[in-house]
Amino acid sequence: MKIVENTLKVGAQKPFKFLHMTDTHLTITDSSDSAERVAFAKQRRNAYFSTADECLEFAQNYCEKTGYLLVHTGDLVDFITPANLNKSKQFAEKTEMLFIAGNHEIHTCPNNVFCEEDFTLDLYNKQKNLASTNEYFTNDIDFFLREINGVNLVGINNYDYRISAENFAKLKSVAAKGKPIILFMHIPLYEQKLYERMGGALLSIPDSLMNSQREFIKFEQQADETTKEAAEFIRNCPEIKCTVCGHLHFDFESPNDSKIKQYVTGMTTLREFTVE
Ligand SMILES: [Fe+2]
Repeated sequence: MKIVENTLKVGAQKPFKFLHMTDTHLTITDSSDSAERVAFAKQRRNAYFSTADECLEFAQNYCEKTGYLLVHTGDLVDFITPANLNKSKQFAEKTEMLFIAGNHEIHTCPNNVFCEEDFTLDLYNKQKNLASTNEYFTNDIDFFLREINGVNLVGINNYDYRISAENFAKLKSVAAKGKPIILFMHIPLYEQKLYERMGGALLSIPDSLMNSQREFIKFEQQADETTKEAAEFIRNCPEIKCTVCGHLHFDFESPNDSKIKQYVTGMTTLREFTVE
């Protein structure tokens, strides 16, 4: 696992460090899974996520060695299996970790395939799926707040390309405290450089760009009014110093002249932040 170091000068009362990782995509199965499901997990692992177990072990050892808090911004599992959730539970219990959900935390893949029809079903069942995944973690994976040395670490769930009105209200009430905020979410905010590279898969993509997307992408990703408002709030709120995200599986940092600086971390990178 590659370690990337960053310093955030946000006005902490005393400097501290934390680690960020994201998008591990565990593909573990056990004897309770069918042969088809085991084969599906193996195919996903071999094609995309062969380093998942190794990364998790590396991060766990690094956390133990340094004693730093770890923030994981989602997609710890590739899809829901009992073994994936049990491994997540073990990891959450062994590591001092704050976790915020990614889009894969709700994927059940009932037909052992990733397809838009099954994604659609999971999106209709997202609340139920999220609530059952939440049971395996040690913090609320929909929203978290941890204050360290006068800095508020806030995690807000946007796994479905949306920010709920309830979570937006919670974010605003944290901002009203006037202390610096580092904001963690799975999906980065739309910014031009990322859109040029991805062509989508960002939070609050302007409608002018969404109009030319396929129907499923619109259904999945088009921001509702609350999300648009929340995205604008995040970009303009003086307390929110940066976002720390995943979802894209590569490392990225917004240019320094951006309205808000975003740190996106890749699948095999562990970011070590020093907060000052
Ligand atoms: Fe991911």
